[in-house]
Amino acid sequence: MKRFFAPLLITTFVFSTAAFAAEPDLEAGKAKAVACQACHGADGNAGTDPQYPRLAGQYRDYLARALHEYKKGERKNPIMAGFVAPLSDQDIENLAAYFASLPGGKLGDLHGHVQGE
Ligand code: HEC
Repeated sequence: MKRFFAPLLITTFVFSTAAFAAEPDLEAGKAKAVACQACHGADGNAGTDPQYPRLAGQYRDYLARALHEYKKGERKNPIMAGFVAPLSDQDIENLAAYFASLPGGKLGDLHGHVQGE
């Protein structure tokens, strides 16, 4: 019995630590986000300049994907390319989770704005 369980335990341990490493860390994301605030706003809702997209409240996986695309050059933007270059995959996960967790200011639905409701 012991011979059967030992490898099983080791496998379980390896998989669970791998999953743990990929967990987003909101505090680490918040710390990295300082570099993003000049353009995307202190609360992730951007300022009045429409060239800077709002990040707060966007889907986490969308934000992460966008950052990976800038990094790989699939999305081309000279400003963002410079900011994503030093980010690790874990930094991207953390930043995406952090901005997704912020309240998305002006994003909303159309309730009360559509006739016939
Ligand atoms: C100097 C200004 C500036 C800084 C600093 C900056 N960005 Fe951006 N960011 C932009 C601009 C401009 C765009 C729009 C680029 C485009 O058209 O693709 C953008 C786009 C994005 C997008 C895509 C949004 C979408 O809706 O598709 C994400 C995600 C993003 N930035 C995250 C970040 C993160 C995370 C940081 C910090 C590590 C950061 N940005 C720092 C200017 C900036």
